[in-house]
Parts: sequence; C-alpha cells; structure tokens
Amino acid sequence: MITLDTIRKPVEADLQAFDEFVARQFTAEGDLLDEMLRYALSSRGKGIRPTLVMLSAAMNAPQETERLGLRVSLAAMLVEMIHVASLIHDDVIDESSERRGRASVNARWQSHKAVLLGDFILARNMNIGMSSGQYDIVAHVCSSLTALCEGEIFQSDCAEKGTMTRQSYLDIIRKKTASLLGTSASVGALAVRAPHERVVLMRNFGEALGMAFQIQDDILDYSPAAHTGKPLNNDLREGKITLPLLAVLDRAGEERRAELLALLARCREEETAVEQLRTTVEREGGLAAAAEVMQGYLKHALDLLSSYEDSPFRTALANLCAYVAERDR
Ligand code: FPP
Ligand code: MG
Repeated sequence: MITLDTIRKPVEADLQAFDEFVARQFTAEGDLLDEMLRYALSSRGKGIRPTLVMLSAAMNAPQETERLGLRVSLAAMLVEMIHVASLIHDDVIDESSERRGRASVNARWQSHKAVLLGDFILARNMNIGMSSGQYDIVAHVCSSLTALCEGEIFQSDCAEKGTMTRQSYLDIIRKKTASLLGTSASVGALAVRAPHERVVLMRNFGEALGMAFQIQDDILDYSPAAHTGKPLNNDLREGKITLPLLAVLDRAGEERRAELLALLARCREEETAVEQLRTTVEREGGLAAAAEVMQGYLKHALDLLSSYEDSPFRTALANLCAYVAERDR
C-alpha cells in the first residue's frame, strides 16, 4: 500500500516551507475569528493539492533546484485555502455535522459563522495573492473558483429536480473537484515558468486524477470500513445520487428504478432505508462499476505522465494515482 508520506518525500522540504508560509500569512484579528481559523487550519486533511502543486512544479522545473521557492508556496497556498473554504461552505450546504473525525465548523459555531469564516479565508487568500505581485498565478488559480460554485449549484439543482444522470454526475464532479486538482497541477508548472503546453498537459493530468479522486470519495461513502472521518452514507442521507447508485439505476428496469428512488427518498428520515440501499448498491455491483470508471481516469492520467522523463517526481505522481484508487480515508 502506497502511503502519502512516501509520495510527499521528494518535496518534503518544500511542503514544510509551504506549511510555514501558511502559518505566517493566515492570521486573523479578533479572538473568535482567530479561534475558528486555527480550528480550520489545524485539520487541513491529506494535503493532496499542495503535494500536487509541489510535485508538478518539481517535475516541470527547468533544472533541479534545492528548493522550489516562494512562487510555488504561494500557488499551493492559494489552491489549498480555496479548498479549505469550499469544504467549510459545503458542510453548511450539506448540513453535515462532522469533517475529518471532528465537529464541522457549522456544528461547532453555527452556520452563519461558518459561512463568514469561509468568506474570510477566501478574502485573506486573495489579499495575500494580490500583495505578492505574482498576478499570473493569482489569475490562473482564480479562474477555477467559478467552476466550484457552478458544480455545487448544478448538483443541488439535479438533486431537487430528480434529474441526475451519469453525464450530469460527471459534469458536476469535473467542476466541483477535478477543476481544482487540475489547477493544482497546472499552477505548479506555471509557477516554475514551464512552457504553455506543459501547463495544459498538467491541467489534464490533475483533472483526470481529480475525477478519480471524487469517484473514490463517493465509493468510500458506501464503505463501512473506510476512515474518512465523515458519517457513513452521508450522501444517501442527503438524497445525493452518486456513481455507485447511478450504475445500479442505469441497469435497472423502470419498476425497479422507481422502487430504488422511493427507497432513496426515505433515506433522509429512516436509517433502515439507508442500510437497505447501501447493501443493495454493494450487492448489485454499483461499487465495482464505479471503480471501473475511476480506473479509466487513472489510466488516462498515467498515460499523460509518460511524456516526462523518469524522475522521483514523476514516480511520486504515478504513486499518487495508485494512492487515489487504494485510499480508504
Ligand atoms: C465536497 O463535495 C464539495 C466540493 C468539492 C466543492 C464545494 C464548493 C462549494 C461549496 C462552492 C463554494 C466555493 C468556494 C470557493 C467557497 P461532497 O459534499 O461530495 O464531499 P464531502 O463528502 O467531503 O462533503
Ligand atoms: Mg459535503
């Protein structure tokens, strides 16, 4: 099993510099805001996005350098803090009480304060970005912000109207998750001033990785043995249709489909319905079918890497692809 520690190893010092950069830059005035900010930053999660920025920067750097430098730390900070803010807002939207094994910001301080904390993080992020004078990096990262919002709105519209299809699901996850992973990979290349075609290639790599990442997230929502720090079957309880259920619905006849959708509607209130739908999706091959789609994206990501020479950074990015498929957290 590939660990994140192994993947981070070739850029360990740069990730350390990035952590120090964030701690220095992200400060807030006022006791409550400061406490909330510390809370949000103390459990940032796996750090996939900064790792991706660093590895992409290192692999695309014109020559081997001891340290990647401030432009790369700034790029990593911009994407990571957008991610942090978006999850704080996402937990408000999903009315989720847990994140990474502890109370979500909204559960601990109420939703209106959580919205404001997310806003503060975004505002501070832009502030730091603009004061740095590295406008190409700021513009590049900002171009992915709208996609996140579009993805979330489209997702809630499809859920409310009952119009989720495989195509809308793929559009949604491309926008809400894959776009920011794509930006993480491309901004890494941009930060070391790689040629435009390399920046584009890295975006495609990060997007394919991001599609796989979100599909695995949706599979783990159905897995009792997972360690995500989120409640099991949160998606079903929210009435959210993701790829494992879609795969089963796609294969079902009209009557069976209606039955399954009625069961999903009961999931908001009844735990027995949640468990029944979870076992149905597993028994009817929904998880395996979703995993197959995920493997297709990972294969595409790996193919894109093959145009780079062998290096510890390319190996780490290939390992990141394997990690996304194997992860249980
Ligand atoms: C998690 O999805 C949510 C996202 C990846 C995107 C969230 C985006 C917004 C709330 C739009 C606002 C954007 C900004 C920049 C503030 P999920 O609910 O499927 O995952 P989960 O199970 O981890 O909650
Ligand atoms: Mg959520």
